[in-house]
Amino acid sequence: MRHILECHEILKTDFTRARNCSVFDSEGRRYIDLESGTWCTALGHGHPRINRAIRRQLRLIAHTGYRYPTAMVEDAARAVLDILGMADGRCVFLCSGSEAVEFCVQAARRITGRPLSLTFKSSFLGSFGSGGAKSADEWHLLDWNACADPDECLRGVPFDRIGTFVFEPGGSGIGGLQFPPAVLVESIAARVKEAGGIVVANEVTTGMGRTGRWFGFQHYGVRPDIAALGKGLGNGYPVSAAAMTREAAEMLEATGLRYVQSHQNDPLGCATAREVIAVFKEGGWVERGAAIGAHFLDGLKEVKERYSLVKEARGRGMLLGLELRPPLRAARVFRGLLDRGFIANYYDSFNMLRFDPPLTIGRRDVERLMGCLDGLLRDAHGG
Ligand SMILES: Cc1ncc(COP(=O)(O)O)c(C=O)c1O
Repeated sequence: MRHILECHEILKTDFTRARNCSVFDSEGRRYIDLESGTWCTALGHGHPRINRAIRRQLRLIAHTGYRYPTAMVEDAARAVLDILGMADGRCVFLCSGSEAVEFCVQAARRITGRPLSLTFKSSFLGSFGSGGAKSADEWHLLDWNACADPDECLRGVPFDRIGTFVFEPGGSGIGGLQFPPAVLVESIAARVKEAGGIVVANEVTTGMGRTGRWFGFQHYGVRPDIAALGKGLGNGYPVSAAAMTREAAEMLEATGLRYVQSHQNDPLGCATAREVIAVFKEGGWVERGAAIGAHFLDGLKEVKERYSLVKEARGRGMLLGLELRPPLRAARVFRGLLDRGFIANYYDSFNMLRFDPPLTIGRRDVERLMGCLDGLLRDAHGG
């Protein structure tokens, strides 16, 4: 691998094929995928129906150019807006979660004419653009962990200058799997709207059933005007979406917005997203994901009860984590899991193991993980 740029950690270079929650290396060894790639394959790898839809669209037309959206793009837009509860809204398909969030934030700023946005300090808003490096003239950052009383915490927030509340419902790595309290979120959304602003939901990670509901904002009494979707929307294929209510779309279009990139509204990405949504609905995967997520969290809680080196088991739906106590490091357990055939994730800053498996994972694989964690933690406790 002399020609792959090392801009991130590389651990293994011979994965050759995958099916559902199993990934196989060149020697045929099976690994259980507890990370869904990068939290993308919510319906498991190589889903036969999604693969068929991709092949069908490939035979027709993969790419048309942004001036020529097809009936497939309209169908996919309708499907996305329907699951978001924005049936008469509008939608544009893009390529990555970062791009979708960036588009939504820029769209909101154009609509409101106010460059200042509020978001939580713990939000991750993508790898580039305004959400990547959050400058003080564009972002008012609120540390919700330091907010005991919402009224007190919001005193001094310049709501008259804030155009947008960018709400990331707790799915990112930098947030450490902690979910902002509903009273605070609802109070911010209400005050931003009262002052003529709008709410953008970043559902890149928390969308598509990941939190046990279709979208993370559905755990709150908040209705976004604009939402960014990615990751699970393509089940591993790079398609994302920026969706908005009819009112927001009309206001945005009236600003004369022009936004063009090469793969905007590609029929191939749209065929993938449309089929992913159909499979989700027909299979009841949001509800099934919530049920297996509850079972998974119970397993993690049992592990926590047995070992003092585990500080907390927490999560929502299929966004799950195990926070460890020093001297045990999450990186060490993560490597132990990988050596034993489990692909998990970890965050040094929270000393936390992360589990974001496909919603299609079976109970037997969950039990296998618990058995393996048990062995690794017993060793860490010295037998
Ligand atoms: C909450 C959140 N927003 C945005 C992104 C960016 O998505 P992408 O990596 O597809 O650009 C991520 C990626 O992990 C994320 O977790």
